[in-house]
Amino acid sequence: MHFDPNVLAKARHVLVFTGAGVSAESGIATFRDKLVGLWERFDPTQLASADGFRADPALVWGWYEMRRAGILQARPNPAHLAIAALAKRVPRLTLVTQNVDDLHERAGSPDVLHLHGRLDAFRCFSCDRPVGSLPALAEGAGAGRRIEPPRCVYCAGPLRPGVVWFGESLPAHTLERAFAAAEDCDLVLSVGTSGLVQPAASIPRLALAAGASVVHVNPQPALTGHPREFALAGKAGEVLPALLQAAPIGSAPMPRPAPARR
Ligand code: OAD
Repeated sequence: MHFDPNVLAKARHVLVFTGAGVSAESGIATFRDKLVGLWERFDPTQLASADGFRADPALVWGWYEMRRAGILQARPNPAHLAIAALAKRVPRLTLVTQNVDDLHERAGSPDVLHLHGRLDAFRCFSCDRPVGSLPALAEGAGAGRRIEPPRCVYCAGPLRPGVVWFGESLPAHTLERAFAAAEDCDLVLSVGTSGLVQPAASIPRLALAAGASVVHVNPQPALTGHPREFALAGKAGEVLPALLQAAPIGSAPMPRPAPARR
């Protein structure tokens, strides 16, 4: 069914819900895309679980450092920029992401709800204390080799990335804010997610049940089963800027991308 851009123009509260696909055009790998998805090539139980870390901390730390190196090299793409620009044009926008990168922030989105944590929010695996300053990337981290994790200054336990691993709970306050926004918003733009990982994936359903419209932006056409559910097939970096152009919602300049960080 055709999505009328006027729905966006009239929205009082837009919830933008993003997944790995929003960062794909920045060169960050998704998880479940055939051939290129991280979970096609690596075992999530080995790399994204506390048991996996306990079994081989150097393997897991090295893998996350490889991903951190990739994120540091990457730049926000037109999808991240369009979302930041949209926030300036609608009365209220809540940005909820499953991504652990900081590309939304670098595009100019200030208050991002990171449901699955952030890769660079390190803490101690043993005593759980957060790490004040970011550990420098080890030489050759981008190659994905084994790297022993740095040690906690308090208890000498190994540091871990601040992401939510399989079997762990999502940050409760962040999830509450995301669910509250789902129940309050009148439009969800669900961008670049397979919608397979709960509880994050229930956000579009919650919003639909509360009376909102939902638009899926994805090159793989989403099945839409509800009269207020729509699919815009295509890459986020193309579809979102076009949607902003099509919706008569005033104008604010597109933020300029920040340079890649070193
Ligand atoms: P997935 O890899 O499961 O899904 C990525 C989605 O992005 C797919 O539906 C692709 O079709 C779509 N996609 C690819 N390129 C795109 C583009 N240029 N524009 C728009 N969409 C595009 O990633 P997520 O749904 O984010 O969790 O995965 C959810 C969670 O599973 C992740 O946060 C991660 C993973 O396990 C944790 O690590 C806790």
